[in-house]
This record gives sequence, structure tokens and C-alpha cells, in this order.
Amino acid sequence: MSTHAPAWPPQSAAEFPRLGSLPAYVFSQINAEKMERVAAGEDVIDLGMGNPDIGTPAHIVDELVAHAADHKHHRYSASRGIYGLRDAMAEHYARRYGVELDSESEVVVTIGAKEGIAHLMLAVLEAGDTVIVPSPAYPIHSYSVVFAGGRVHSIPLVGDDEGKVEGEALLAAVEQACASTWPRPKALLLSFPNNPTTLSGDPAFFERAVEVCRRERLLLVHDFAYADFSFTGNPPSILQVPGAKEIAVEFFSMSKSYGMAGWRVGFCVGNRAMVSALTKIKSYLDYGIFQPIQIAAAHALRSQQECVSELRDTYRRRAEALIGALNASGWPVPPPQATMFVWAPMPGPFVEMGSIEFARFLLREAGVVVSPGLGFGPEGEGHVRFALIAGEDRLREAGERVGRALQKGP
Ligand SMILES: Cc1ncc(COP(=O)(O)O)c(C=O)c1O
Repeated sequence: MSTHAPAWPPQSAAEFPRLGSLPAYVFSQINAEKMERVAAGEDVIDLGMGNPDIGTPAHIVDELVAHAADHKHHRYSASRGIYGLRDAMAEHYARRYGVELDSESEVVVTIGAKEGIAHLMLAVLEAGDTVIVPSPAYPIHSYSVVFAGGRVHSIPLVGDDEGKVEGEALLAAVEQACASTWPRPKALLLSFPNNPTTLSGDPAFFERAVEVCRRERLLLVHDFAYADFSFTGNPPSILQVPGAKEIAVEFFSMSKSYGMAGWRVGFCVGNRAMVSALTKIKSYLDYGIFQPIQIAAAHALRSQQECVSELRDTYRRRAEALIGALNASGWPVPPPQATMFVWAPMPGPFVEMGSIEFARFLLREAGVVVSPGLGFGPEGEGHVRFALIAGEDRLREAGERVGRALQKGP
């Protein structure tokens, strides 16, 4: 008889096999230490999570308020989203990217991109299927595959001096993964502009990515959460590549573009089979977002878009404020070309301690919370990520405090 029979009843979440197989959540330790310091009355500048601090523009909130009290909206909504919202998304893609989408079969509303990605993987993967994920990565890109019983094949995500992905190296790694992995990988998950690295893709890279995926028989999933957050021009949609819809879907999010993170509205658009698979699994799992939120989201997509460029400009100015202070303190950090993050290579003398210890050091010595690069996968080690979720003055102060802390040495 085995002496290692599992305890019953289970004592922790990790005893349930699917959760036990998840990698450690490295942000939790920093979070716990932050809470202790805040509770002790310390002035902590929290730049850890990418949780936008700027409220949703008033015209969108007003639209929600105008519909919130109407009883007819208090019933369950449609899990795939109301027609008006799916149609507003299709119009947005036509106007912005010149991409035609059928709002019935090529658009599904999700409860944010994160929920959508997780359930798409659950819908399309079989146990043991492999998904290729460039690393460092936004954690759900890997966790969604693990939850679905799949395997993650990480490939390195590397950038050039201009803040663009080294596309050919990445696609060579994709081809190599396909040649060396059995059963053959089923999907490639990309995301540009990228969190946490802030790297961008360009149309030529997307064309090549579609070509390689088609040749290697890979489904292509593109997380486009930072669609509106490039400081050098409009980032391309993967669906602009001719024929991309035959193999690709894209996730668009209202969270960052319209400052609606707490409202939980996103979309999966493109390939009919994948959109239909996600629509189907969601029909078993949820009843749709509160209808007035969907009406307000459609209004956001259809009304003035200046609020989007204003948000982008705010993040650009914030990045400049933080980078200016960090550089002045002697920490040379490259300015981001996109997103709402600064991805900072750790200063030489601190590299040895690793990103988790360095993040703890910054919290202890500067009262500044950052995300350790290791939290985005092993390839993120050697970096920390600052989320630009405070005003310019506060970010300048954060940079100055960090500078003073660095003077003390490791
Ligand atoms: C790359 C990426 N995808 C998705 C999300 C989450 O988007 P949503 O709020 O629509 O779930 C984030 C949030 O930080 C993100 O960085």
C-alpha cells in the first residue's frame, strides 16, 4: 500500500491536479509585502499591475447610466454579446483597418480579452496539444493552455533597437518547434504591441507570420489588447493580412483603449470556426455582460475617438516622465514605443540578485512596486516592469526614489 495516499479532504487549491500544474504566481509575494507596508501607513507607489487609473470617458459612463435603470436590461443578456455591440465592433474594424467582419459569424463579445483567450483555448485544445507562446508573455497566454490540458512550447521573444520584434528569429523558432515537436503544435499565440516587453510587430512581420502558420498548419491567435497604444503610428491588425481569417482570430479589448478595464468587455474576431467554438463554449458558461455595459461599449466604439488618442498621449507623457527620472538617476532604461509599460533591464550590479529580489529591494528601499520579469516567464528574468498607472509627478517621484535606492547598492 502506498504511504503517499493524498490527504482527504484536500487541504489546498494546489491539491487539485489542474491547479497544481500551474507555475508559481510570483507576483503574490510582492503583493503581500506591499499590503503590509500600506497597512503600516507607508507611502507606496504601486506600479505593479497594469490596472488603468484613468477613469472611463464621461460620454461612455453617461450612456451606461442612461440605460442602467431600465428593467428590460436587468435580465440575462446574450452570452455572445448583443447584435448592436458585435456590429459596432465590425464597423470599427472596417473603418480602422479596412477589414470586413460578419457581425453574426466572425465576432463574439467576451468578458474581457483574458476570459476570451482562456475559454478559446479550452474550446479548441485537446489534452496534450501544444501551443507555441513567445516568452516573456502576459501570464494568461501560458496559463490558458495549461488550464485546457495543453502544453506550452516557449520560444524567445527578442526585440531590435527600434522596439520591434526580431520577426525572422521568432518565426525560425516557430518552424523549429514544428519540426521538433510531436504531435505537431496546434497553435501560435502572438501579441503586439506586447506586454511586458513593449515590442511592436509590423505589417511585413504579420504577413510572414500568417504565411508560416499556414505552411505549418498552425492556428494563429493574436492578442491585440494594446491596439491603440503605439507612440509611432497605428499598430496593424493581423486580420489585415489577406487571407488571415482562414487561420487567425484576434482579441480586441475595451479595457485599455477606452479606459474600461473594470467593465470587462472584449472581443474575439476573425476565423469563423474559432469564433464559433468560443461562442459555443461561452453559451454553456455565461449569460453575457450586463446589457447597459454592452450598449455603452457600442457607444464608445461608434462615437468620438479623440478620447483614445488622449489616453495614448497621456501614457506617452507618463513614460517620458518616468524614463527621464530613471535615466537622470543613472539607470539607462530605453523608452517604450508602445503600451502602458516600461520594461527595464536591471542595472548591472543588481542582476545577480534576480528580478524577484530586486522588486523586493525597490519596495523596501524606495517604496515603489514593480512586477518582477520572472513573473512573465524565465525569459523575463533580468528585467522589471513598471506600469504607468500614476500621474506624471508621481512617476517622476517614483523614478527619483528608485534612483536614491540604487545609490545604496545591492
Ligand atoms: C496582453 C494583454 N492581454 C489581455 C489583457 C487583459 O485584457 P482584458 O481586460 O480585456 O481582459 C491584458 C491586461 O493587462 C494584457 O496586457
